[in-house]
This record gives sequence, C-alpha cells and structure tokens, in this order.
Amino acid sequence: MQHLQIRGGTPLFGEFFVHGAKNSALPLLAAAVLCQGETVFEGCPGLSDVEAACGILRHLGCSVRREGSSIAVDASAAGESCVPDSLMRKMRSSVVFLGSIAARMGEASLCFPGGCELGARPIDLHLMGLRALGMAIEEEGRYIRASVPHGLRGAKIRLRFPSVGATENILLAAVLAKGETVLENAACEPELIDLAGYLNRCGARISGAGTGTIQVEGVQSLKGCRYKVMPDRIEAATWLCCGASAGGEVLLRQVCPAHLESLFPLLRKMGCRVDVGRDSISLKSPPRLAGCGGVVTGPYPEFPTDMQAVLMAACCRAAGESRFTETIFENRFRHVAELQKMGADIAVEGICAKVAGVERLHGAEVSATDLRGGAALAAAALGAEGVTKIGGLCHIDRGYECLERDLALAGADIRRIAD
Ligand code: UD1
Repeated sequence: MQHLQIRGGTPLFGEFFVHGAKNSALPLLAAAVLCQGETVFEGCPGLSDVEAACGILRHLGCSVRREGSSIAVDASAAGESCVPDSLMRKMRSSVVFLGSIAARMGEASLCFPGGCELGARPIDLHLMGLRALGMAIEEEGRYIRASVPHGLRGAKIRLRFPSVGATENILLAAVLAKGETVLENAACEPELIDLAGYLNRCGARISGAGTGTIQVEGVQSLKGCRYKVMPDRIEAATWLCCGASAGGEVLLRQVCPAHLESLFPLLRKMGCRVDVGRDSISLKSPPRLAGCGGVVTGPYPEFPTDMQAVLMAACCRAAGESRFTETIFENRFRHVAELQKMGADIAVEGICAKVAGVERLHGAEVSATDLRGGAALAAAALGAEGVTKIGGLCHIDRGYECLERDLALAGADIRRIAD
C-alpha cells in the first residue's frame, strides 16, 4: 500500500504538460479492434485504465506495443470475442468494447461492469442503440452475450440522455454497419470528436460529431493510421484548481483551452487571472480566493461532473459561499467527508453541496474514494496547513500518470510513500 504525503502551504509556480486524455484513449483503443493494419496512437497516457484496455486488446488477439507515450495496436490476428470478468473488472468503462468486438467478430461476450463508486452505472442506452443496429443481446446475470445474426444495419436512434459511453458504443458499431445511422441526442463531448476524427482517418464516414446529431454512413472496412490523442481536459482542470487552491502561478501547455470554457468564468469569479493562448492556459491565483457562486454539472458544453470535485476543493478556503449541484451521477460527493476531515465546511443535501469558505484547512489522514475525488484531496492538501496523508491511490492512478511528479515539478511538497 502507498500513500501521498503532502505538506501544504507552498504556492505552485511552474509548468504542466498535459497528457493525452484518458477518456479519449479508452474508446480509441476499443476502436482499433475495427481496423485492418496497424494504428499508432500518440500521446497515450500511462494509466492503469489504459493498461487495462491494452490487456483486453491482447486477450482478443491484437498485438499491442507501447513505445514511450505511443501505443501501436494491430488487430489483424484478433479472434477472441469473450472477455473474462477479471479483465472487464479492471476498468469500468470496458463496456465500450462491446460495440467494436461484436462488430468485428460477429459476437461478444462480456461481463457487465455493474455499479461503481459513483453509483449505479446502467448501460440500457448502450444496449438499446446496439440492438437498433441489429445486435441480438442477451443478459444473463452480470453477463452480456451479443451476436450479429443478420449483419449490422444503420438505423435512426434517439438517446433519452446524451450518454458519452452509449454514443461511443453506437458509433463503434455503426461505422461498419450497412447503410446510414442517425444518432439523435448524442453526447457532444470533445472525446466524441476525437473518436470520430480517428475513425474518419481510418476511412469511416461520420459527420456531426460534437453536435447532438451524428450521421454515419457505413463503410466496408477501416484501415489503421497514426493518430494523436487529444489533451486531457480533466487533467488540465485539475492543475488549474491545484494552482487556485495552493496559490501562485501555473502555466499549462499542450492543452485545448476551448474544452475548458465552462471552468474559466468560475475561476475568474474566484479572483484568478486566467489567460488563454492557442494551446496554453495560465492561471494566477489571488491572495485569497472568492467563492465561485453556483455550479451545476451537466453534459458538455455544461460544467463537467469530472471537474466538480477539484473545483470544490479549491473553494474550501475561499471567502464566501460556493454551491454545487450534481446532476450526472447519484453518488459524486464522497470526497466531501474527506474534505471535512481537513476542516472544510460543506453541507450536502441531496444533489446539492454548499461550501462555506473557511480561512484555513489543516492536514489530515484521508482516503481517495474515487478518481477525481482523490485528485480533489490533493488540491485541498496543497492549500492546507501541515501534512496530509492521502490513501486509496489506486483510484488516483487510474487517471493521473504521476500526480506527485507533475505537482512536485511546480514546487509542491509532495511524496509517494510506501506504507
Ligand atoms: C463518461 C466518462 C466519465 C464522465 C461521464 C460524464 C469515460 C471513460 N468516462 O462516463 O469520466 O464522468 O462520461 O461526462 O469517458 N446512463 C444511463 N444509461 C446508460 C448510460 C448512462 O442511464 O446506458 C446515465 C448514467 O447513469 C449517468 C449518465 O447517464 O447518470 C451519464 O453517463 P455517461 O455519459 O454514459 O458516462 P460514461 O460514458 O459512463
């Protein structure tokens, strides 16, 4: 077991080079199953979730090679369609492999990912969309068996909610289906634009990705290519919130500022100076932050649920109140109890959390209960007095290549310690 030890009170001054996006890399790796020939994904972050996706690809029979930050995948020899429980359980979003495996192999058998630390994680929208494309899907306990008895054919599909994962799964199955698919109320997240960008480079015919209506004209085959994974907007938000919480000045490089538009007004309201370049963002923190007002999480381009915890951490020491309404996941305030151990004044009522800024936070022994909640504890600890010990690092390592290295480079007093 390991923990992070953070001695707070040192402002951050330095640069962060933002990695490729985890939430883009995972569907991209799933998409490689559909392609003939090799794909090289550049800028693949070194994360346990990415390793888990590579494990699934290898199990399917794909050749997978990591060279530095690139991952080369060749699915030519893939033939396995059944992914065992042990591999599926390593990564919740492994359900995104359902569409591509079934489309490629004509069948797929996967273990249902079930709930997670954020609450129930239904996949009804994934299954509805895949069935509309001609997949026969049986659910047996936690197992899902999909087959394609009469080939996949394009369809008109409308999602009752713009689910990111369901949109990805449907897109992956539709690219090789016969005829046209129109997906309405699709998720508009930038990761969808990245997935469609890759598939189109491989020969797919997708238009409208990044809008609520995506059209796909099925093609016969796809051919691998070189592709650079988009920058991780959630990682970028984490560094900005760490900078706000600790004080100081941070500069983010290799980032796409347009993807963080919903965060900037909140940081500015808190008194931060935020300047945006073509692929850089700088943040200068004021002597004391102000509250951020009201924040409601929602599908893109609204404020992302994945940024809620880290922003909340920065608000804990603000002068004034901040209110968070979480509309995406039912159980996404688990970091609150840990922040309270550090002296934060937060009241949760249903889907709302009210943060009354306090003058000081103090170090405490806390534990990450989920990925972004864990990053939030680090952000709070940087601005707290004394030493904070953060356990539960397996959650943090799912989404940050080496959180302590990147923060230490900006001057944070942070170490990973083996218990
Ligand atoms: C993705 C992201 C995750 C992010 C989330 C919302 C990845 C790997 N993960 O997760 O980090 O927090 O988007 O931006 O990209 N829902 C249903 N039925 C379904 C699918 C989803 O009811 O079939 C509900 C979920 O319970 C949840 C909401 O839709 O309340 C959003 O889920 P979704 O957009 O699907 O998130 P993920 O793709 O799982």
